[in-house]
Amino acid sequence: MTKKPLILGIETSCDETAASLITENDQGKPLILSNIISSQVEVHKKFGGVVPELAARSHMEKIDWIVQRAIDDSGRKIDEIDAVASTAGPGLIVCLSVGLSFGKAFASSLKKPFIAVNHLEGHALSPKLNSNINYPYLLLLISGGHSQFLGVQALGKYKRLGTTIDDALGEAFDKTAKLLGIEFPGGPQIEVLAMKGNPNKYDLPKPIINKGGCNLSFAGLKTAILKISKNIKTDKDKFDLAASFQKTIEEILYKKTKIAFKEFEKQITKKNKVFVVAGGVAANKKIRSMLTQLCEEENFQSIFPPINLCGDNAAMIAIVGLEKYKINKFDNLDFPAKPRWPLDEKAKFLKGAGIKL
Ligand code: KG4
Ligand code: ZN
Repeated sequence: MTKKPLILGIETSCDETAASLITENDQGKPLILSNIISSQVEVHKKFGGVVPELAARSHMEKIDWIVQRAIDDSGRKIDEIDAVASTAGPGLIVCLSVGLSFGKAFASSLKKPFIAVNHLEGHALSPKLNSNINYPYLLLLISGGHSQFLGVQALGKYKRLGTTIDDALGEAFDKTAKLLGIEFPGGPQIEVLAMKGNPNKYDLPKPIINKGGCNLSFAGLKTAILKISKNIKTDKDKFDLAASFQKTIEEILYKKTKIAFKEFEKQITKKNKVFVVAGGVAANKKIRSMLTQLCEEENFQSIFPPINLCGDNAAMIAIVGLEKYKINKFDNLDFPAKPRWPLDEKAKFLKGAGIKL
């Protein structure tokens, strides 16, 4: 039997230092052997957000032992590794540089191929770690820095169907949390507080809900929350605002995803009606169940990564490495860190540019 590839993935694009070893089982399905994530929440908490220099320093302090632990936990030996895949962008350049340099040096010392991975492609392929998915599929990528509907046509081939014209959805969750006085990182807490409140208490705006196709916008929502939050007096008010925000997001995503389904069928395919949701916000259970319900109504198959693989991790970087390894798609050791690296290189970058509203 031929040896299955063993791939080391490394992720340091923001505030998580992560390393993972993956391989394939006898049926050719991906198999996670180790997945180590070290969060920097404690480092950034007192600043209310990620401080790039502190994040980079923390990556530098931890990268050695995180990779060592990933190798130890995998039960494999260092010289069994077939390729090293590191996130090269998008992200904070000082942070990206740590994992990228480490990965290049590691690959070079092992005399094994190096693979530069787009972090967003990692999210896009993350559901492949536990589900059978064939290309093409429709992807809703909702993270702290991105909110997009993409047609995933093949490895490395993406067509943007819609994008946020201002804030990312994760950013909207985090900013709302901050206005409600919830400690960083507050996004996931909104979901918890929302369960205690009345979702119909506040009537919040749904920007561009009836225009702009499946493009998204969350900035107006944030402004509305800023105004209301000034009059929040009790815990009950706080819970009600969190619940109203959560409900509004669900309504926006319901309507926009329905439009994205039509665009996917028009622009990509009518045959493979598969909808994948990935990125940190895909961990939100109410968003998951609402989108699952919508898929049932619209006859799409819904696929989500397990909750622990929604946020940043290195197994998702390793799966991109694995797919590229299998087609001998390697990168040179001078591959640069790319703070900005859209999946669909041809799409316009400027916020709102080219989008008819
Ligand atoms: O994918 P991710 O870990 O990092 C980026 O690539 O940005 O996403 C992080 C984002 C944060 O904005 C965080 O607040 C949000 O995902 N997030 C959530 C939940 N868990 C994480 N937002 C809403 N509900 C959650 N349960
Ligand atoms: Zn991410």
